[in-house]
Amino acid sequence: MRIDIITVLPELLKSPFEASILKRAIKANLVEVHFHNLRDYTSDNYKSVDDYQFGGGAGMVMMVEPVDKCISKLKSERDYDEIIYMTPDGNRLDQGTANEMSLKQNLMILCGHYKGVDQRIRDHFITREISIGDYVLSGGELGAAVFCDAVIRLIPGVLGNETSALTDSFQDNLLAPPIYTRPRDYKGWKVPDVLFSGNFPEIEKWREDEAYKRTKERRPDLLE
Ligand code: ADE
Repeated sequence: MRIDIITVLPELLKSPFEASILKRAIKANLVEVHFHNLRDYTSDNYKSVDDYQFGGGAGMVMMVEPVDKCISKLKSERDYDEIIYMTPDGNRLDQGTANEMSLKQNLMILCGHYKGVDQRIRDHFITREISIGDYVLSGGELGAAVFCDAVIRLIPGVLGNETSALTDSFQDNLLAPPIYTRPRDYKGWKVPDVLFSGNFPEIEKWREDEAYKRTKERRPDLLE
């Protein structure tokens, strides 16, 4: 997979890709991530990427021209499966979308900034608009990092143990069950006996029951 990220603040975005699972995925050539600074596509001396909103009103708007130049250059180099705009008024990101995106070859992500981007960019280029939750961030960069993390860890080969993504919360619309490791007894805080029974169908049943209980308690909406 290849991901191209268009941003006015590449420095805000880079560190998540330089550590842990994302770093390993990049090193193993399972994913390539490229950052494009929108200011490199400006045509005036001030490298302006934003301007006042027509019709008045507070807040600046990302201008059409630099965004068009950047997206058009990338599109001339390869075909993109999706051109995604990170914005609080997009579709809320969920595990289903992450699964779907993890199967794509080329993704482009535009990080919104200021009040957002000129609507004409959304009308003419964007194929998908994604929000990471019902709150407003100061830009799309942290949203893009969250999106990339959720997607990249699902690419086959990225996680050491292939089954571990399958048992994540949300993969089957259930939250994950409780988990334990050594020691079996810590200060009298005990691990449930069933986990030592050696009876794997029984352990699996216990996990399913616990996952269901937890989901019913915390996220009944997932069971609807
Ligand atoms: N940009 C600002 N807020 C955002 C959000 N909640 N999700 C995605 N991008 C954003």
